Amino acid sequence: MGAMNNEKNTDPAIRVVMLPRDTNERGTIFGGVLLSHIDLAGAVEASRHAPKKFVTVAMDKIDFIAPVNVGDVVSFYTHTTQVGRTSIKIHVDVFAARRGPLVEEQKVTEADLVFVAVNENGIPTPIRD
Ligand SMILES: CC(C)(COP(=O)(O)OP(=O)(O)OC[C@H]1O[C@@H](n2cnc3c(N)ncnc32)[C@H](O)[C@@H]1OP(=O)(O)O)[C@@H](O)C(=O)NCCC(=O)NCCS
Repeated sequence: MGAMNNEKNTDPAIRVVMLPRDTNERGTIFGGVLLSHIDLAGAVEASRHAPKKFVTVAMDKIDFIAPVNVGDVVSFYTHTTQVGRTSIKIHVDVFAARRGPLVEEQKVTEADLVFVAVNENGIPTPIRD
């Protein structure tokens, strides 16, 4: 792996409001829903590096730290931790703003993902031409 870019983005890659359709049988948000948004947020971050098609090759480590509730506004902050020849490692921090008078965000999840740039045949292709 080559260049590193540890700069953190202050704006989230995506922000989503959680709906009743996203809940598990206990009424909190289903982890798979968050994973789907984490994947999308990572793809947004990857696409900042090059106008290429990126596919997810690995979700390395995912920590679900605190539950997410219906009505929470959930923000997915991303930063690139490593740029390789065809792959990019991305860290995603997920924060929930709870419903109610307090708007402070609480960290609920974090994850590390790897994306690979692919050509039209799905073969890995260099990120930098
Ligand atoms: C992504 C894919 C094209 C990679 O193919 P591959 O034959 O493993 O590619 P390579 O061995 O040439 O590796 C390409 C790069 O990915 C990295 N890589 C491959 N597998 C990896 C893994 N499991 N974890 C981390 N990095 C990985 C390699 O280190 C290499 O990085 P570099 O070029 O920056 O040095 C292939 O695995 C694929 O199509 N997977 C499915 C992707 C997909 O559909 N995702 C959506 C989820 S369903």
